[in-house]
Amino acid sequence: MSARPTVVVTRRLPPPVEQRLRSLFDARLNAADAPLDDAALAGAMRDADALLPTVTDRITADLFGTPGRRVRIVSTFGVGYNNIDVAAARRNGVIVTNTPDVLTDDTADLAITLLLMVARRTGEGERLVRAGAWTGWRPTQMLGTRVAGKTLGLIGFGRIGRAVAARARGGFRMRVLWHDPSPGDDAASLGAERRRSIEEVLHESDFVSLHCPATPDTKHLMNAERLAAMRPGAFLINTSRGDVVDEAALVRALQERTIAGAGLDVYEREPSVSRELLAMDNVVLLPHLGSATDETRVAMGNRAVDNLAAFFDGGAPLDRVA
Ligand code: DGY
Repeated sequence: MSARPTVVVTRRLPPPVEQRLRSLFDARLNAADAPLDDAALAGAMRDADALLPTVTDRITADLFGTPGRRVRIVSTFGVGYNNIDVAAARRNGVIVTNTPDVLTDDTADLAITLLLMVARRTGEGERLVRAGAWTGWRPTQMLGTRVAGKTLGLIGFGRIGRAVAARARGGFRMRVLWHDPSPGDDAASLGAERRRSIEEVLHESDFVSLHCPATPDTKHLMNAERLAAMRPGAFLINTSRGDVVDEAALVRALQERTIAGAGLDVYEREPSVSRELLAMDNVVLLPHLGSATDETRVAMGNRAVDNLAAFFDGGAPLDRVA
């Protein structure tokens, strides 16, 4: 039997990361890339020293309470960890780590991508061309909304929110407003203006982009009332978590033209997407691509491995969240 710690990895990871895992640990990789069901996760909790899950694995209190559990650390591949019952981890003395920082730029880029796509109707335009339905340029064809100089409201002003602010200010000369219950300290230098309430941000913004974590407090933070508080011509962008938006209320707000459109990378019941949204041309829908670049996915994997290595070397993992 190997003396090296056993690590169960729930999905395929980029090859350099899998190679590193194999070199450091008795790594049980998932060559088939099929999601593990609860029984397989419970088996991993019993048989391994560490679990390396991703943001789509639900690591519940039951799993932390698995009789005969051997896992002592859960090093998740992702910055968000709303899929993990961290209170249960703490109760059971299991360490949980995540992968912050390394995905900030790519996720901010994707929020800006969605903002531009929905404002300039690029998804709709691409569908038109691919359908062979484009009849040629004309002055009134497919007019969108200008982005430069408009007001962007950020709900959540952590690493990713601030990176979006920098892009919007520097690239598009936007006025940026933000609300966050725990503000960062470099808000002023980004030229962004703080607002005391979410409602103030919603009232003043042409685009609203969500950058808060999914917690019990932020579940359905964008509900029917808050959607109604947005400007009629405004757009909602979500690259955070689907739970933060009441998707049924969003469908109604879009149907009733309470808001002008939405750019979404995340959904309440991923991978399922409300069928009404699928039919709307004023909505851009992406498949949770925020951090999906080669560079970032390798960096996320390495960060998850660094956390495991620090723990098994007897040190303190860098990114401990429980
Ligand atoms: C995360 O890390 O939380 C993203 O949603 C997946 O990259």
